[in-house]
Amino acid sequence: MKGVLLAGGTGSRVMPLTAVTNKHLLPIFDKPMIYYPLHNLIRAGIKDIFVVTGGEHFDSVGRLLGSGKLLEDVLGIASDSINSIAYGVQDRAGGIAEALGLAREFVGDDNVTVMLGDNIYGQEDFLSRAVKNFAYGAHLFLKEVPDENLYEETDKGRRAKYGIAELDKLEHVLGIEEKPVNPKTNFAVTGAYIYDNDVFNVIPNLKRSARGELEITDVNNHYIEIAEAGSSVVTDFWTDAGSIETLHRAGVLVAEKRGYFNF
Ligand code: G1P
Repeated sequence: MKGVLLAGGTGSRVMPLTAVTNKHLLPIFDKPMIYYPLHNLIRAGIKDIFVVTGGEHFDSVGRLLGSGKLLEDVLGIASDSINSIAYGVQDRAGGIAEALGLAREFVGDDNVTVMLGDNIYGQEDFLSRAVKNFAYGAHLFLKEVPDENLYEETDKGRRAKYGIAELDKLEHVLGIEEKPVNPKTNFAVTGAYIYDNDVFNVIPNLKRSARGELEITDVNNHYIEIAEAGSSVVTDFWTDAGSIETLHRAGVLVAEKRGYFNF
């Protein structure tokens, strides 16, 4: 299993914090944001990780993570946990699926676990079991989000701010809608995905969405349509950290988890 960590984008929602740096380098409590999903991948036993960033702050991301070897101390992990970190550049905002496509050669014939660099999970090893048991198709990680955290206001009105899963009674995923105005459930599709190698044949056939991107939701719906998508529900906290509100919520959730309560 290879890992792909996506840390591109302009961070426009948290300007001016991102005027001179990459969003994924901003602090979540005591560490740069990108350390958290990196740690999740490593905890799942993934040793080879491809990091995709935009061209602008590529140098800072590379300086922070390096070859991965120096991180083993910082993250408090065993000295053979990281084999290699490689880098790719996404020149424009082309979407998560497009960014994943850049990792094709790095992944080779292997399966791949993809994480969005701004998703923060309370359970450090939440990926481990699914990675270990993964055989084929796709595996998604869902989280039930209360109404007060589910929506965002846009120029065109209120909508869900995540991909939202429709589920049957046994919590099997029937389909996903990307940022729907009227979500069918409160189950967000979080930013961690496991795919078999066929994902690299799916991506070139995607059509660009209204926002001009190759959507990871279209990849996931493909696997749902061919009945090869599994899922699990994240039990500990989960949040994205891509807006001012969620950036700070993520920091507070991490701090609380570590036993700091005196804000
Ligand atoms: C992306 C995905 C969305 C997912 C979310 C998780 O949205 O498109 O399906 O729920 O990440 O953070 P973005 O916030 O990148 O637009």
